[in-house]
Order: sequence, then structure tokens, then C-alpha cells
Amino acid sequence: MSHEHGAHQFTVTDVLEQRWSPRAFARDEVLDQKRLGPAFEAARWSPSSGNSQPWTFVVGFRGDDIFQKIVGTMASGNHVWAQHAGAVVANVASVVDAEGNPQSHAVYDLGQAVAHFSIQATAEGLMVHQMSGFDAQTLGRDLDLDSSQRVVTLMVVGSLGDPADLPEKLQEREARPRERKPLSEIVVGSANYA
Ligand SMILES: Cc1cc2nc3c(=O)[nH]c(=O)nc-3n(C[C@H](O)[C@H](O)[C@H](O)COP(=O)(O)O)c2cc1C
Repeated sequence: MSHEHGAHQFTVTDVLEQRWSPRAFARDEVLDQKRLGPAFEAARWSPSSGNSQPWTFVVGFRGDDIFQKIVGTMASGNHVWAQHAGAVVANVASVVDAEGNPQSHAVYDLGQAVAHFSIQATAEGLMVHQMSGFDAQTLGRDLDLDSSQRVVTLMVVGSLGDPADLPEKLQEREARPRERKPLSEIVVGSANYA
């Protein structure tokens, strides 16, 4: 499926332009750790505050126990499409370090690692849809995380599927053009992109 991309004010590298967040994922696709390896490697080499690397990625493949646990905590509007993807990942931040001190940049660092993951995944022909619509506390319990860890977001990962498989309302959303604020609104100071 081709996707309507909003007008770019400047040209960006292909893989950034190709990234978007679909809901239709290939339902017959079987993913494994080898297929996701490059994307996790990209996340691994992401920068972090003091090289603290305060992230853990809990991955489940469709049909396994971890997948069921993660998908089972999703809000119904997410569950309806995400349950068909090849893989889901719980993005976990270590918000407290080994000495018991708060790691104030942990969530920032995790987000950046997820960005690296999603860009590498796109380069590998996979799509990533991040998600905050899930029950983080329940999932932390179900995954036996300790109190220093927080599930911040989920990622749904897989190849693009057929939008015709989605409920009608989501088919319309899937085709909606992507929009962004203009550069002039988000970059201020000594630059003027108006
Ligand atoms: C932290 C975060 C939470 C999100 N939560 C959800 C979600 O619960 N459900 C959903 O369908 N999309 C979710 N998204 C996807 C965003 O809606 C999407 O990234 C945004 O609309 C921009 O679209 P694009 O990724 O296609 O460029 C989330 C994205 C991020 C980064």
C-alpha cells in the first residue's frame, strides 16, 4: 500500500521518509530473533546519559506466551489490530540505578533507543507502531519486572499488511494523510523557517 506522506519542507533521508505507523500488519508473517536482530542492534548503539543504557526490550512473537501477555494489556482500540502482527515489544526503562538513585534521563534514553530501533527496522522492510494505550502496571507485574523498571511504551512490529483486513473505521484512518506542525512553529531562536 502506498501511503500519503505530508509535504516535506526539506528532503530527509529515505528511511525516515518511509517510516510511518500502520495498523495493518501482515497476518501470516512469522518473525524471529534473527529478523529483529539489526533493529535491536541499532537500539543497543543508541546514545544515553553517561552511557547508562537504561533500557530492556521484552519481545514476544505471535503465538508465544510473552506476546499474549503484552497484547493482553492493550486498550481494545489497539488490541483489535495489534494482535495480528508478527511481534510486539515492551519498552522498559530502568528508572532507578543500582545504587537506588533515580535515573532522570531513563525515559528519554529509552525513547531514543526506540527511535533507532524503528529506523533500522524500516531499513529492514519492517514497520513499527509505538503505543502508550496499554496497562503498564499490569504488564510490569505479568512480566515479573522489578520496582526499578517501568514499561513506558510498546512497539508493534511487522511487515505492512492489507488495510482491507482492518475494521472499516480504521481503514479510513490508515489512509489519512500524515500531518505535522510547520518548522516555523517548532524551531525558534536564530532560525526562521516561515
Ligand atoms: C509514545 C507514543 C505513544 C503512542 N500511542 C499510540 C497508541 O496507543 N495507539 C496508536 O494507535 N498509536 C499510538 N502512537 C502512534 C502515534 O499516533 C503516531 O506516531 C503519530 O500519529 C504520528 O504518526 P506516524 O508515526 O505515522 O508518523 C503512539 C506513538 C508514540 C510515540
